Amino acid sequence: SPTLRSLAEAKGIYFGTALTQGNLSNSTLTAVAGTQFDMVTPGNEMKWDTTEPSNGTYNFGPGDQIVAFATAHGMRVRGHNLVWHSQLPSWVTSLPTSQVQGAMEAHITTEATHYKGQVYAWDVVNEPFNDDGSLRQDVFYNAMGSGYIADALRTAHAADPNAKLYLNDYNIEGTGAKSNAMYSLVQSLKAQGVPIDGVGFESHFILGQVPSTMQANMQRFAALGVNVAVTELDDRIQLPASSANLAQQATDYATVVKDCLAVSGCVGVSQWGVGDADSWIPSAFSGYGAATMYDNNYQPKPAYTATATAL
Ligand code: XIL
Repeated sequence: SPTLRSLAEAKGIYFGTALTQGNLSNSTLTAVAGTQFDMVTPGNEMKWDTTEPSNGTYNFGPGDQIVAFATAHGMRVRGHNLVWHSQLPSWVTSLPTSQVQGAMEAHITTEATHYKGQVYAWDVVNEPFNDDGSLRQDVFYNAMGSGYIADALRTAHAADPNAKLYLNDYNIEGTGAKSNAMYSLVQSLKAQGVPIDGVGFESHFILGQVPSTMQANMQRFAALGVNVAVTELDDRIQLPASSANLAQQATDYATVVKDCLAVSGCVGVSQWGVGDADSWIPSAFSGYGAATMYDNNYQPKPAYTATATAL
């Protein structure tokens, strides 16, 4: 039977998953990952706390393992991520303000150079916005102001001119204050000639709550001249999940896939993890789980069938 990746490719998009280093030793998981998906996002292995745990000391071993798995299975890689307020080592937040820009640029240059030619895209800045649409006052904003985003994009472009450069965030999937803020930012970056190629919509949804405005929202971003992608899809259910819940989840997944296919600039959909057993949801949202297309034994759920049908 067809796979998600073959169905997606026939429609001109990709279907991806997140993988962690730990996932690679689970042969049931990797058998599904390597056949069903054609894009990999490292779950944690390219984040700053892993790649530069102390100032100027780099560790690309875990990320390299993910890239090697992807290459061996004909999958591309979304690099995730270069600049983020979270999973950021304390040496960065402890720097004198005057040294933050240099540290950020060195980090971006070294990591993007290491992976040059091996990543299709980079999430250059991850989750820059608060839910009200203001920029997070993190260490980068506090040192450089809003210009840190343009600086990060320009630095990444200089290191790897062929990688597609993304801004990625959550709660921007439907229209609203946060989505409007991202839209205005991308519009202004484009107007200034800053290298920006895409916007990632994380899409960590709650069952039954895929925004009805998602397609129109992605379309307005595409109309700015950037690609869009669903980068971290999951759809969490309050446990225990009933069969009615799983049917609603199937509807939710199909809606997201159809929304992407309806937008000409939507390049692909990635789920965050392969199956319910390796999903981040139960540890991040107490009482919730069952958020992916595969059950705890890596058997396809109704959401898998609905996704394949929508593709
Ligand atoms: C999550 C990972 O899946 C977890 O293992 C980790 O403990 C926390 O981060 N938004 C993102 C991802 O951009 O990097 C996050 O990944 C999930 C939310």
